[in-house]
Amino acid sequence: MNKRLQAIESLVEPGDGLIDVGTDHGYLPVSLARNGYPGALFASDIRKGPLAAARRSAREAGQEERIEFQLCDGLALCDPARVDTIVIAGMGGDTICGILDRAEWCMDGRYRLILQPMTRGEVLRYWLTNNGFSIEREQLVSDGGEIYSLLCARFGGQQTLLDAELYTGVFSLIEQDPLWPAYSALLRGRLEKLLRGLRQGGRDPGRLRLMETIAEQLREREAYGKRTGDL
Ligand SMILES: C[S@@+](CC[C@H](N)C(=O)[O-])C[C@H]1O[C@@H](n2cnc3c(N)ncnc32)[C@H](O)[C@@H]1O
Repeated sequence: MNKRLQAIESLVEPGDGLIDVGTDHGYLPVSLARNGYPGALFASDIRKGPLAAARRSAREAGQEERIEFQLCDGLALCDPARVDTIVIAGMGGDTICGILDRAEWCMDGRYRLILQPMTRGEVLRYWLTNNGFSIEREQLVSDGGEIYSLLCARFGGQQTLLDAELYTGVFSLIEQDPLWPAYSALLRGRLEKLLRGLRQGGRDPGRLRLMETIAEQLREREAYGKRTGDL
């Protein structure tokens, strides 16, 4: 397993049942089975090829009996009574939102979500916090020259995020991560490039204002972090 999947596995707590949605090669559930995860294990994928690859991985690891495979869209075949952990990783944030949106039953505090958006993390954080979920944990992992963002969420509570936090992750959770300085510098660089383009183009004043607000919030938080770090 690569470092990104290992980091996802490290966020799994022992439980009664876990589904890995969009499992592809099935590396995560196979590793969990090998490492003694105590509950039931499910792996779903919308495409036949990846699900067949997942079965093959499980067979080769001697774990085929341990995992139930589901060929379906997202959580469509998942029995809500048999899981307490839902992992959706390696997809766009908007795809993850769609999967959760089509499974209303997961809007219940009994389920812990472990999510890893490849893109559009801001769409996912917006969807979660506007649909009654709270983000409980944010983590960064560096793998193959990229920094990936992982988060855990659960239904319940009321969390209001700054616009910048939709992009970066919840400040109070992510600032503790050793990769935060590198990640925030990376995001700031991307933001500055985007701002230059928007200022030159002059065609989207609304987006320009939003991006300026985000850049300002990020600057303020970094200054706050430096001040509190100095104390
Ligand atoms: C890039 S792979 C990620 C594999 C693994 N989860 C990881 O993080 O390495 C994305 C997988 O999600 C599957 N997928 C995409 N949309 C899906 C959906 N709506 N429901 C189930 N699987 C989906 C794809 O077929 C593909 O196998």
